[in-house]
Order: sequence, then structure tokens, then C-alpha cells
Amino acid sequence: MVQARVTPKKLFAQVLDPVSRANPYPIYARLREIPVSEQEDGTYVVSTYREINLLLHDPRISSDERKSARPASALTATAAATPPFIFTDPPLHTQLRRLIRHQFTPQRILALQEQIKQEVKALLDARKHQHQLDVVQDIAYPLPVMIICQLLGVPREDEPRFRGWSSAMVRTLDPTESLSETEVQQAEQSRTQMHAYMQQLCEARRMQPQDDLCSELVAGDDPDGRLSEADLLATMELLLIAGHETTVNLITNSMLALLRHPEVFDQLQRNPALVIPTVEEVLRYDPPVQFRTRTTLADIPLAGVTIPQGGRVVLLLASGNHDPARFVDPDRFWPERKDNEHFGFGSGDHYCLGAPLARLEAVIALKAFSQRLDGPRLVTDPPPYRSNAALRGPEHLQITFEHLNNKDLS
Ligand code: HEM
Repeated sequence: MVQARVTPKKLFAQVLDPVSRANPYPIYARLREIPVSEQEDGTYVVSTYREINLLLHDPRISSDERKSARPASALTATAAATPPFIFTDPPLHTQLRRLIRHQFTPQRILALQEQIKQEVKALLDARKHQHQLDVVQDIAYPLPVMIICQLLGVPREDEPRFRGWSSAMVRTLDPTESLSETEVQQAEQSRTQMHAYMQQLCEARRMQPQDDLCSELVAGDDPDGRLSEADLLATMELLLIAGHETTVNLITNSMLALLRHPEVFDQLQRNPALVIPTVEEVLRYDPPVQFRTRTTLADIPLAGVTIPQGGRVVLLLASGNHDPARFVDPDRFWPERKDNEHFGFGSGDHYCLGAPLARLEAVIALKAFSQRLDGPRLVTDPPPYRSNAALRGPEHLQITFEHLNNKDLS
């Protein structure tokens, strides 16, 4: 609930406040009254679709926090000199992204389709006699984690070690000021441990290549060049974290939206083809990545404000997705909407590299939920949320169901 007394300059602090986590959208609506608004701490929050889109495609905006006098994330302030390529700018970003795209191909993703189906089936079957499940713990978290580990070549038995590391590291995507000192230290420690693990893994794959992305990247026989050792490790870490922390929220937010809108759930049960636009609509309506931060490389006049060079900018993607100037009836969950060009995966040079994999996993999981679960219901609404504001999603999503059928979805 937005308090009327909060001035526009304090609204982003309110977004970061954990009490707003279950529903930050009314605060975003207030922020959109001023498309580019300077907050009390000097951050510029951009909340309207048009202005976010302009900045996502503006070369005067940097993703490299080393160019900022006041880096937004704690991790990059203390991390090694080689940030992962999501935190770099052209021309380096262009080169690195190209090398990784050559290995992270649509064919490689599509080859995982059967395995994803089998994993979803096994995870659901394990709950068959329970009549209840936690969407997060039982399916939405284990699925993407198994798949990213398999894709990269991380042995399954080592996966539990990544859970804690990854979760501590993504906390630092929220602005530094909103983290405790302990959280910053945990993130730094996790980063060091994950780095050491990845070094060993890459070394093992160099000696004995396997059929996985790590071996391909280590081999480095791409005609466009090879990744340095430091870039290789930073890339492996980035992909692993992205695979742990985002798709879980897409699957969970999808189930939450569907169970809050039983008429849409019924439609999906009757017409499984709607699963594809449903996932797209969740990416707009309740996106796993709510905002990204950038630094200005020049003074940028925008919507009546000049963001000064070196300024910290928050691009509020989830708010752009609810901008009534861009989307008809933006607060309605409406999978059949037309013209749904959302910011769920960002836009421009840094557009999500994992989008095809995330879509595939979410579509398969949602199809299984909607076709196999009879009479699903939410136990707690709103569910408890994790503390992250940028990568926002429920910590648990308990549901009950009458019956799990054996419908064949192959
Ligand atoms: C539902 C799941 C996902 C969502 C919502 C999501 C969202 C995003 C967004 C919004 C960006 C843009 C960041 C920016 O502009 O600064 C991004 C970039 C990126 N994502 Fe994802 N992502 C998801 C899943 C994945 C997965 C599964 C992977 C890989 C395994 C992945 C890898 C990446 C990478 C490498 C980038 C950086 C691209 C670049 O800087 O060129 N993402 N993602």
C-alpha cells in the first residue's frame, strides 16, 4: 500500500523496502507520473516505456560499473578486474557476446527439450500422492538448475554448493545501500569460492573434454578468436547464476498469475497452445528482472530532466511493462493481448542471451501444470517473497490439488 505522504524522491527507496516486495506495482504507477525522477540519493529512476526504451538503445549509457564513481552493485566494486560481459560495453561486449553466442546456439537449446520434459514429469510425479506442492522448491528451482548445470558441464552432485553462492551473489544486484555489511561479505566470499571451483572445472575440461559448453569454450577454436582465461571464468559464472536465479521466478510467477486468474487457467487447460502467449504475458505482467542499473557517459537530456554524466540510472523495466501509454489495460493479465513487446528480457545490445532456454523451460513446465494438475489452489496469497528487489520472486509458492493425472504430454 503506497502511503500518500511519501514524496516522489523517496519512492525508489520504498520499492527497495522488503515490505513492498509482494506488490511494488502501485509504487511504479506513482513513479511513472515523473518519467525520469531524481531520487533523494541522486539516483535517476526511469519508469516509462518510451524513456526506458530510448536509454536501452543509447550508446551514452554504460553497463560497465567501473566507469561509475558510485557503482550500483557491491559485487563489481570489489570483484576482479574482469567483470562478466553483462557488465561491459562495446567494443569488448560485442566481441565477447559474439564468441559466447557461437556456442550457446538454438540447436544446443533445442537438444535439451526432451530432457526438460522428462525432468518436469519426474519432479511432478514425485508429488503424486501428496496433493500439495511448493512450486518453487519442488519444480521451479530444481528444473532450471539441473538444466544449466548439464548445459555447462557442472556435475550434478556439485550443484548444492552453487545454491548458496549464487543466491548471495545476486543480492548485490540490488543497490549497495540497501544491503547489510554481512550480505556484501557473503557475496564476496561466494564469488571467491565459485571462482576457485570454476577454475578447477575448466582445467578438468581442458585435460579431458566432454560434450558440454565448458569444454567448447575452453577449446576456444572459434575462428573469431578465443576468450581469455579470466573472461572464460567470468562467463561460466554469469551463465550459471543466470540459470539459477531467473527462470525459477518466471515459472513461479506464471503459476501465481494463473491461480489468481482461474478463468485464464481454465482457458489454458482447454487450449494448451495458449501456453506460449501466457509465458510472454507473464514476462510483461510480472517479470523476474524488475530493473537494471546503468551509468551515464555524458549529460543526457530526457523528459525535461538532464541526467548528468556519471549518474546512476535505474531502468525500471517492470514499470515500463505496465505503462498505459504503451500497453492497453496494462494491469490486466491477458495472454491474448496483441503487440506484447515487453522488457522481460531487456532490449538492445544486452538483450537476454538465455531467452530461448528460459522460454522453453517455462513453456514445458506450465503445460505440465495446466494439463496434469486437477483443481490446483493457492494456499497463501500473497506468498512470502525473497528479499531481492531487482530479481524479484516468491520464496515459496504452496499449492494444493485434487489429483495429478497421467496425461501424456509428449
Ligand atoms: C526467465 C528467465 C530470464 C529472464 C527474465 C532474464 C532477463 C534478462 C534481462 C532483462 C537481461 C538484460 C540485462 C541488461 O540489459 O542489463 C538479461 C541478460 C542476460 N541474460 Fe537473461 N534472463 C533469463 C534467463 C537467462 C538464462 C537461463 C540465461 C543463461 C543461462 C541468461 C543469460 C543472460 C546473459 C548472459 C545476459 C547478458 C547479455 C548481454 O549482456 O549481452 N538469462 N537477461
